[in-house]
Amino acid sequence: MRTHFLGQESETAMRIRRLDMFRVEFVTRNVAAGSLSKRIGYPEGTPLRNPPLVEYYYKDDALGDPLLCMAHLDELQVISPEDLSETTAVAKKVNEVLQAFFAARSLILVDYKLEFGKDSQGVIRLGDEISPDTCRLWDSETSEKLDKDRFRRDMGGVEEAYAEVLRRISG
Ligand code: TMP
Repeated sequence: MRTHFLGQESETAMRIRRLDMFRVEFVTRNVAAGSLSKRIGYPEGTPLRNPPLVEYYYKDDALGDPLLCMAHLDELQVISPEDLSETTAVAKKVNEVLQAFFAARSLILVDYKLEFGKDSQGVIRLGDEISPDTCRLWDSETSEKLDKDRFRRDMGGVEEAYAEVLRRISG
């Protein structure tokens, strides 16, 4: 998989390739939660009929990063149909890899956000991180939330949850 990653500089810094980012966030979902639950009325935790579901959000702070349908994507011309097809396929492939990775660590990958861009040669590359800040991870047994929703919803235990994820993925 082509990414922006070039090397690890320190515990908190990595060297990356400069990308010209698409103004689109790709959210891939396996289980209903968050804004999808609000939008279509599925209680959180409802299995999706044909997962994964990939959604596109417009990277525009002033508009609040709205969900885009195909007509909007076409109107805005933020990504070509060919590039959309390639990035969506990569988002789904990432899902396959990550779902299995987290499942082996007793974590359900509920959903996550990815961003893509083009390098100086015009090659599409993944330009993002995966962390409990950018995905939802629930304990497989208890469905306990082990991600940023603990902060967003003022549930407490944020650091403990992140430490638990770290323990499971590095243990
Ligand atoms: P949502 O349910 O709020 O739309 O979020 C879907 C997923 O995308 C969730 O795992 C959190 C992640 N996300 C980000 O990483 N950055 C964002 O700006 C948003 C809105 C969501």
